[in-house]
Amino acid sequence: MKTTPSEVLTTLRDYIRWAASRFAEAELCFGHGSPTALDEAAALVLHTVHQPYNLADTYLQSVLTLTERQAVIDMIDRRINERIPAAYLTHEAVFAGLSFYVDERVLVPRSPIAELIEQRFSPWVDEEQVVRILDLCTGSACIAIACAYAFADAYVDAVDLSDDALAVAKLNVAKHQLDDVVTLYQSDLFKELPDDVRYDVIVSNPPYVCLEEWEQLPAEFHAEPDMGFKGGISGLDIVLRILVDADRYLAEQGILIVEVGSSAETLQTAFPDVPFYWLNFERGGDGVFLLTAEQVSQYNELFLAAL
Ligand SMILES: C[S@@+](CC[C@H](N)C(=O)[O-])C[C@H]1O[C@@H](n2cnc3c(N)ncnc32)[C@H](O)[C@@H]1O
Repeated sequence: MKTTPSEVLTTLRDYIRWAASRFAEAELCFGHGSPTALDEAAALVLHTVHQPYNLADTYLQSVLTLTERQAVIDMIDRRINERIPAAYLTHEAVFAGLSFYVDERVLVPRSPIAELIEQRFSPWVDEEQVVRILDLCTGSACIAIACAYAFADAYVDAVDLSDDALAVAKLNVAKHQLDDVVTLYQSDLFKELPDDVRYDVIVSNPPYVCLEEWEQLPAEFHAEPDMGFKGGISGLDIVLRILVDADRYLAEQGILIVEVGSSAETLQTAFPDVPFYWLNFERGGDGVFLLTAEQVSQYNELFLAAL
């Protein structure tokens, strides 16, 4: 007689291993925070049985109840059948070691910028001098909130154009009890920000995917809001506008950090004389540049001419 998975699989470890095999067999895409099928399986299985993502290894031998086994199997089936990022099933994403609420209204937090925030943008700023930070294109507000934790004395402004994204950002600001520190703006980039404000750090993970690349992205990415990806034909429409306008909003010793991902080469080719500093990441990721306020100002006319 044929056995069912819940008859032969008993422990958390069994279900994580089995889910990973099913995910690999189904050729799912893992670009949303879990780099491998095993990581994604662990995240989903642990969440389903209400355990933290970093549960100590000793508990992986725990035997699941029959009800838990069915709930885990249902969750694994949904991930395979619906082809949406795991975070949309769990409504949770971890970014810079912090937990964020997510749903289909925002991109799943996964920017390598998390690592820079954890290092407090060292050695690029004098930590003590950072009093104002701007997160442009904030989505779930993951970057803004992580910055607020990293710079306890700073105020953070966070901007998005999308009503939907801002609704999720608001939930996360409240979840982290940062209403007095993080201010949300509905704005087309800098447009609705006060004219006289100057930021020590402007950080952004804007839409930067070119049209051709966007059309070829796997199903999981198409479950996320288009507005989070599309940067026009070249991918650089929004990035260029940031490069032009940042000049007016950066403090004298300020820095601009922008993720441009796969559009890095296009950007560097478009501006061969601009010394974009491409940051390195220990945990993986690339395509994030840094410019000082002085450089942003020096090359302003060049950026303006390309708009
Ligand atoms: C790549 S997502 C980044 C979200 C978040 N910062 C993160 O790292 O997960 C880009 C965000 O930019 C927002 N956006 C797109 N165009 C914008 C604009 N013109 N002004 C402000 N925000 C914009 C989108 O709504 C989306 O939330």
